[in-house]
Amino acid sequence: MSAPRKLFIKTYGCQMNVYDSERMAEALAPRGYVQTDSADDADMIVLNTCHIREKAAEKVYSELGRFRALKDANPDLKIGVAGCVAQAEGEEIMRRQPLVDLVVGPQSYHRLPALEAKARAGRKALDTDFPEEDKFGDLPARPKARRAPSAFLTVQEGCDKFCAFCVVPYTRGAEMSRPAARVLSEARDLVERGVREITLLGQNVNAYHGHPGGLAGLIRELAAIDGLARIRFTTSHPNDMDDALIAAHGEVEKLMPYLHLPVQSGSDRVLKAMNRKHSAESYVRLIERIRAARPDILLSGDFIVGFPGETEADFQQTLALVEAVEYGQCYSFKYSPRPGTPAAERAHVDEAVKDDRLQRLQALLKRQQRAVQDRMVGRTVSVLFEKPGREAGQMVGKSDHLHSVFVDAPQVAVGDLRAVRITASAPNSLAGTLV
Ligand code: 5AD
Ligand code: SF4
Repeated sequence: MSAPRKLFIKTYGCQMNVYDSERMAEALAPRGYVQTDSADDADMIVLNTCHIREKAAEKVYSELGRFRALKDANPDLKIGVAGCVAQAEGEEIMRRQPLVDLVVGPQSYHRLPALEAKARAGRKALDTDFPEEDKFGDLPARPKARRAPSAFLTVQEGCDKFCAFCVVPYTRGAEMSRPAARVLSEARDLVERGVREITLLGQNVNAYHGHPGGLAGLIRELAAIDGLARIRFTTSHPNDMDDALIAAHGEVEKLMPYLHLPVQSGSDRVLKAMNRKHSAESYVRLIERIRAARPDILLSGDFIVGFPGETEADFQQTLALVEAVEYGQCYSFKYSPRPGTPAAERAHVDEAVKDDRLQRLQALLKRQQRAVQDRMVGRTVSVLFEKPGREAGQMVGKSDHLHSVFVDAPQVAVGDLRAVRITASAPNSLAGTLV
């Protein structure tokens, strides 16, 4: 038998890409590939790309340029581009960067082995269709090797919301949900392999309709799996946060007290221009209902500053909303015009103004995040240990609220779930001792 070929996958962007990269590696295994951590000795390199903001997309081309020397050294090296840039700019990538042998859009990963064979035969391979068949249904069953205690599981893809700034409805296509039976069997498989925490992924995960009870119904069935200790989901749209899902946060013990619920802006004028179809007030009321169901829930969000037409008064309303909600964790971005989206055609806010607003917003968010984290000191939390820390005997894990927790605990193993008393709070993590 010939020596295995080496596959290097570099993943950009969201957690869904992390999951997809795992599945792509599995799909290529029957073609003789094993994964490697370095591009230098690879026989195939795949960039799994993100198109959400301009910078993310441009990174792909600069990274590809760097592979020329590798290809000169190894003429058999094949280079592939996957993910949302592949979907949005497939043919242009081939034109702009002749080094690329293979382009595959996010809905076509089950066709990767055939595309790879075509590329090996010396032909350019491109597939950016939105096929009818379920890509995950057609991928090989997942291998049984032991794995890390925390795993992602994609249950929903695509988006029908068409926020005016966002490329996702164009790159990932219409909303689709994987059938609950498939999700449950994949979850059981993961648990057999040592997984104790599953994060359900979807661009609009709370719009999941692969179970008659929606996402809440799926979560309740997952919670019945022995050995699975924690369930999370991300990312959600406020308008799909239904009563059943809110109730689940109060009733399902395995559902962790953490919710990523992006609002994007605190100004109703901007929200309308963004086509968000909710108001700042309705969002704050929704948060109140969620907190009534699960008082200690930690909230996370996304914000965009400098959306076309955003004034200083609009921005002040964003700051006011942040003050009202008190987030434990947030992501914030300068608006980045994306080709083909409605907002890209509008008059843009000055770059310096965007910079200034982003700084002010991030200063406030950072203060909030730190305050929420500091309040954990003195409390006992459960920690799922994921890896050894840098110092001898130290282990690192995640709390229910998704804080990183460092503990001096040489007796603890990866995958252990233990009670920890929090003793200190640092800028991006907590420290504690086993109880
Ligand atoms: N510019 C800046 N941020 C964006 N996001 C999505 N599209 C854009 C854009 N064009 C942000 C939103 C979304 C997160 C995943 O990325 O805040 O929730
Ligand atoms: Fe993009 Fe809006 Fe859909 Fe989220 S809900 S993926 S921001 S269009």
